[in-house]
Amino acid sequence: MNRKFGLVSALALATALGGCAMMPTLGLGSGSDMPPLPASATAPVDYARDTHTFARPEIAHVRHVALDLTADFQAQTLSGTASLDIQGAPGATEVVLDIKNLDIRGVSDASGAPLRYEAGALDAIKGQPLTVQFPALATGETRRIVVAYATRPDAAALQWLTPGQTAGGQSPYLFSQGQAILTRTWVPTQDSPGIRQTYDARIVAPADLRVVMSAQQLTPEGEAAGPGVKAWRFRMTNPVPPYLIAIGVGDLAFAAIDERTGVFTEPSRLAATRAELAPTADMVDAAERLYGPYRWGRYDILVLPPSFPFGGMENPRLTFATPTIIAGDQSLVSLVAHELAHSWSGNLVTNATWDDMWLNEGFTVYFENRIMEALYGEDRALMLRALGWGDLQSELAGLPAADTLLKLNLTGRDPDDGLTDVAYEKGAAFLHTIEVIVGRERFDAWLKGYFERNAFRPMTTELFLQDIRTHLVAGDAALERRLMMDAWIYQPGMPANWQPPVSNAFVPVDAAAMAFQAGGPASAVPWSGWSTQERQRFMTWRPAGLAEGADWLNPTQLADLESTLNLRNEGNAEVLFGWLQIAVQHRYQPAVPTLENFLTTMGRRKFVLPLFTSLWAEGDWGRSIATPLYARARPGYHPVTTGSVDAVVGRP
Ligand code: BES
Ligand code: ZN
Repeated sequence: MNRKFGLVSALALATALGGCAMMPTLGLGSGSDMPPLPASATAPVDYARDTHTFARPEIAHVRHVALDLTADFQAQTLSGTASLDIQGAPGATEVVLDIKNLDIRGVSDASGAPLRYEAGALDAIKGQPLTVQFPALATGETRRIVVAYATRPDAAALQWLTPGQTAGGQSPYLFSQGQAILTRTWVPTQDSPGIRQTYDARIVAPADLRVVMSAQQLTPEGEAAGPGVKAWRFRMTNPVPPYLIAIGVGDLAFAAIDERTGVFTEPSRLAATRAELAPTADMVDAAERLYGPYRWGRYDILVLPPSFPFGGMENPRLTFATPTIIAGDQSLVSLVAHELAHSWSGNLVTNATWDDMWLNEGFTVYFENRIMEALYGEDRALMLRALGWGDLQSELAGLPAADTLLKLNLTGRDPDDGLTDVAYEKGAAFLHTIEVIVGRERFDAWLKGYFERNAFRPMTTELFLQDIRTHLVAGDAALERRLMMDAWIYQPGMPANWQPPVSNAFVPVDAAAMAFQAGGPASAVPWSGWSTQERQRFMTWRPAGLAEGADWLNPTQLADLESTLNLRNEGNAEVLFGWLQIAVQHRYQPAVPTLENFLTTMGRRKFVLPLFTSLWAEGDWGRSIATPLYARARPGYHPVTTGSVDAVVGRP
């Protein structure tokens, strides 16, 4: 596409400018538990044009970020310095960073001498460019600049929780969410996924709290830093896209699962969390057997307070996860498989721009399913795929055709707009289709090679096509035609070679749902014998050809379902969500207290946004519930969630 730099010319330009050759900080210092970087990590980088950054990396780019920040829970700010190592074209005299909602207090060089800087006009989505000027760079020179700054209390990446919003109720809590373009609200750097940076950090926080980051912990118990505070140091020696820089601060305890995996969470939740996530250790082993070594050293999971806006976030070495996966029976652990899989698809091979997001999420859903198959067998994996296909079908029905291409065009839009099941489920379906056509053995060999060849590099959709054509299709014209790759990527909807997953396991579930809808009693639904996935299917089943907004159950049926399945006490968040959607869509008043309780005790956007959207679609009935409920619930939500719900319900 012509919005991108031609790849060849971008590479040639970068090479000619000498501005991309080597990683500056490959030394793995003593004590690192990460394997050395492969040769490919030092290869020249192409900068595909990312329209969500102000950075001009072909002139000068950030290679390393060193944070020295103090967390002030009273003021709700992080303040201190970000020291950036800059490389660039010989003669370059400025670097352009991304910032949003930051207080910049000054910029200096390594010796403390002030540098000229200017923050440009504010763009509602991207924030502001921060241009810093310095004496011309010599060939191969690395220049350090030091930005002194503070975050604002409403930094979109950060959520500052009061003690009352935590499980323990005693200590405050802070966590970040960087993806897609929120890191710029707490770290002034070039916030583009194609501009990989190593990082280190020193974070000062109240002495009774623990600090964790998506990096190697250098001070497991913190170190003295003055009265009432401790400092914590971290180091990430693999170059990462800035959206993976992440922090958590709170009353955190740790429990090991095996020698390289474990969980962090609040002390009162630790035992249950460890028990729930115990399969993590086997998942890492299974993932390595599938697609090669895990390159990040440890794999731990931080289970956050319920306001965490996502299910999970693949921060390197330390996945962040919602507590709504702690179901008591390990039934929702596919989320861990997903975030773990990102250690290859996303963190190792990274979408170069948000238009290429399917390269992160679609590959990850495919890989996640392979991990689940390895641990739990084909039937469970097939059920999960069938659920994904169901989600995709409803998503496709509501999206404009232009948003159903794998390769998106999010220029001028929030990259969050691309966060649909198209990137996830159509992307995974594409890879599954290729697997079926070429056979699993050949497909796996290609995919493993793809991760190796492209490790620590940004990936565009066009480079993916080049890689698969070179290493898998290899000139076989008949195979090329059968794969229909261009149709998958550049055409709307599902191409003709797609075969939806057929799970026999769901045949009885669908039959039970149909019988119930036709007037059978809820007691005939074999609920207690069903797995969580079967229960999810039951709750998302809809009669074929149902008109938009039409009811398919009557109030007596809803009451029967609610009491027979004990849905007021449903502890599985996915199942409860499914039920509440049905309840709201029928204006079923008796479920409203359950709905209110759910929406005021958890802030996962995947649950919150659809429920408020459904309420809003139910006219006066739903709106008169939604408006006061949102006013009550909103203070507990992360900016990622409020940003989305505000657009539906309005800002209270
Ligand atoms: N990386 C995503 C979350 C994300 C994507 C945040 C894009 C911001 C922008 C994460 O891996 C993810 O997909 N989480 C899912 C869970 C998963 C099992 C599908 C979620 O949060 O629901
Ligand atoms: Zn993901």
